[in-house]
Amino acid sequence: MPISSEHARTWISRWDRQQETYVPHREERFTVLLDALEAACGRPDPLVLDLGCGPGSLAVRVLDRIPAATVVAVDADPLLLGLADAAHHDRPGLRFVEADLGRSVWGADLALSGPVDAAVSTTALHWLPEPELRVAYGELAGLLRPGGVLLNGDDLGVDDAAPGIAELERNLLRRAAGPRGESLDDWRQWWGGVTEDPALAELVARRGAGPAAGHRGAESARLSAHERALRAAGFAEVGTLWQHGGNRLVCAITGASMV
Ligand SMILES: C[S@@+](CC[C@H](N)C(=O)[O-])C[C@H]1O[C@@H](n2cnc3c(N)ncnc32)[C@H](O)[C@@H]1O
Repeated sequence: MPISSEHARTWISRWDRQQETYVPHREERFTVLLDALEAACGRPDPLVLDLGCGPGSLAVRVLDRIPAATVVAVDADPLLLGLADAAHHDRPGLRFVEADLGRSVWGADLALSGPVDAAVSTTALHWLPEPELRVAYGELAGLLRPGGVLLNGDDLGVDDAAPGIAELERNLLRRAAGPRGESLDDWRQWWGGVTEDPALAELVARRGAGPAAGHRGAESARLSAHERALRAAGFAEVGTLWQHGGNRLVCAITGASMV
């Protein structure tokens, strides 16, 4: 049974509220990411990838900001992609693709029309263990045009380099998060709800025990793991554009010699 767009949007709006309880300043981080995306692409019709797109929260915000963009949004979770597709299938310029970013050659699954101007991602790439992160960044480096950018918003700690600062960053995030409202889902409640929704039974079954079925935890939650993997993939510049506590917008730029 097809899921109605309205039904999918209700779950996505609950997803956004659930994510906001874990990511204080989530909307502010989206806004800064989109500002940087616009500035970095320098054209009205960029080709943009959204890595670990979930139900498409960032992908649609990219199109709201840059309506002539083409956005290819990638995730390994068929349930989240099914919600995204049901809600946004009629959105011009937006395509959702199922692929595991930690597996090599996922770029081939995307059927891209040309070199990618930018990749964006939020609260996703810390899921990948470091060896898979290296695969993902290596594959991405081969898809981006020279001077192309990665803009990655995530909670990334500096425990290995500066444990005292890492503790202060966590303290700032706890303060910004504040107490959880009674009416809000947490991660477990949101997943419990979709799993019990008869309209989503087919997607729940497809999710099965695939690569996305279990949150494997904060595998690459250190900033240094991302810096190492990005440098190893050949990115020429890596830096932080915005941050509140450990919540960062990391930017990496490919060198002119790539591609
Ligand atoms: C917390 S959600 C964030 C989703 C979305 N970017 C957002 O900000 O709302 C993390 C996402 O990363 C995806 N993900 C985790 N590991 C992945 C992998 N190896 N390949 C593709 N997607 C993956 C999950 O399926 C999930 O949708």
